Amino acid sequence: MRNILTGIKPTGMPHLGNYLGAIRPALTMAEEKNVEARFFIADYHSLNTVRDAELLRSYIYEVAAAWLACGLNPNKVLLYKQSDVPEIFEMTTILMAFTAKGLMNRAHAYKATVDLNRSKGLDDDHGINMGVFTYPVLMAADILLFDTDYVPVGKDQVQHIEMAQDIAGVLNRNYEEELLVIPKSRIDEELMSVPGLDGRKMSKGYNNHIPLFAPEKELQKTVMKIVTNSQGVEEPKNPGECNIFALFRLFASETEERALAKRYRKGGMGWGEAKQNLFALLNSKIAPMRARYDELIRNTEGIDAILTEGAMRARRIAANTIRRLRRAIGVG
Ligand code: TRP
Repeated sequence: MRNILTGIKPTGMPHLGNYLGAIRPALTMAEEKNVEARFFIADYHSLNTVRDAELLRSYIYEVAAAWLACGLNPNKVLLYKQSDVPEIFEMTTILMAFTAKGLMNRAHAYKATVDLNRSKGLDDDHGINMGVFTYPVLMAADILLFDTDYVPVGKDQVQHIEMAQDIAGVLNRNYEEELLVIPKSRIDEELMSVPGLDGRKMSKGYNNHIPLFAPEKELQKTVMKIVTNSQGVEEPKNPGECNIFALFRLFASETEERALAKRYRKGGMGWGEAKQNLFALLNSKIAPMRARYDELIRNTEGIDAILTEGAMRARRIAANTIRRLRRAIGVG
């Protein structure tokens, strides 16, 4: 059995980039043979930035509902909320003692914030709380506590997995070689590069995203905002240089993809029509999931029940690892 695990930070309704780049590949991976999948909602990672209780609560439900609506089967895949598993925080305390401060200084996300502060003439530490600084330790605890073999993540998270490997290595060298499983990242190159409305990587931060479960009318309006060049209807067009096409092919069958590429090259199809095609395809794929999502959000007790059951199962696994560690380090 190989254990795969990934965390989803609740910071808003997932968008198409999250779906194609994280949710869909992770759910496909969970279907593989001999795989035990654990997906969790990293709510204490969000607390570093989300300071509105009502907002955080609704983000947590949105993320849980999105995974369930996209096909996560809670009987097969373990789904839980990080804050429901206190063993994670004991694990974090243990790992802190073995984490070099210098390692944290090198974290890309932290360094980027320091650089931004400097460029604005602010103090290096401006706006940086200890949760942000120690983010990689909590993430290592998430991963190592569950004896994780593979972590499906985007490229931006690879350094965090390397840090988890480093920290686990320190404990293994100090106590016993197989105390902690050394995790590996798994990234799907093609699916990672989902373009947003303006052609840059789709990201909430760039505000170029397409929300996954927006109502149909809103989805259509958002698709119509995709940026194109100014070629006229009659001109032949290059599908390889078009945001609309780049998104279309991520959902289309090979036949649908080839048919649309042919229409691009022939000319006679304007951008409005191309967008309409994309919207129709997207909506046909999303509509059944959107219906499930709306249903789940209308009755959050259903989500609560799934998360409570998930936490119970997660804590059983976590308690074993913590017992093993407590013995190894000399407190148990
Ligand atoms: N840092 C991840 C992100 O921002 C979320 C996360 C938290 C995570 N803990 C994790 C991902 C453990 C994988 C494994 O997307």
